[in-house]
Amino acid sequence: MHAFSIALALTLTPVSAIAQQFGAADLAPYIPTPQVLVERMLEAGHVKPGDMVYDLGSGDGRIVITAAQKFGAKAVGVEIRPDLCRIATERIKSLGLEDRVSMVQGNALRVDLSPADVVTMYLLTSSNERLRPNLEKYLKPGARVVSNEFPIKGWKPIETVRVKSGSSMEHTIYVYEVGRTK
Ligand SMILES: C[S@@+](CC[C@H](N)C(=O)[O-])C[C@H]1O[C@@H](n2cnc3c(N)ncnc32)[C@H](O)[C@@H]1O
Repeated sequence: MHAFSIALALTLTPVSAIAQQFGAADLAPYIPTPQVLVERMLEAGHVKPGDMVYDLGSGDGRIVITAAQKFGAKAVGVEIRPDLCRIATERIKSLGLEDRVSMVQGNALRVDLSPADVVTMYLLTSSNERLRPNLEKYLKPGARVVSNEFPIKGWKPIETVRVKSGSSMEHTIYVYEVGRTK
């Protein structure tokens, strides 16, 4: 079963079962985004130099690192797993990006998102639903939210991008803009 099938199976699983499987704070298991998709997500979010990017559930830090290295952005990764947070922090240090990229080890549901120009996520539809009140509370008009594979229920995307990775895997990126979600 490849990553997408696992993720799809998870969307079809009741939230209570997911919570039981991964722990109550867990919004999704760790499945890294392929690099080609990382770049398409940041392009789709129109990330530009100086923007502040937050990746909610940032895994090994690949999205925040790419945001800084290739797009000239500042970035914050929020990751609940200490081991992944440590790996990301070490990569950030070894690449000399500490002045622009930082990691927060904690629950993405409890983070103040008001500095963000762009938020990226690769979570589950049910998790996006839980995060939506915070996106609505904190994000400024014009901020973009880019979700890999899973839509935000109740919001209308401004764009949907389809991307192929490998020979047969097809992915969907949902792009939202605060103030234009209805
Ligand atoms: C599908 S992975 C995506 C990783 C990374 N964003 C990427 O695209 O490669 C989801 C990540 O969310 C993290 N996560 C799950 N629940 C979380 C929570 N409540 N707060 C912060 N991170 C969480 C997982 O540990 C995992 O690393």
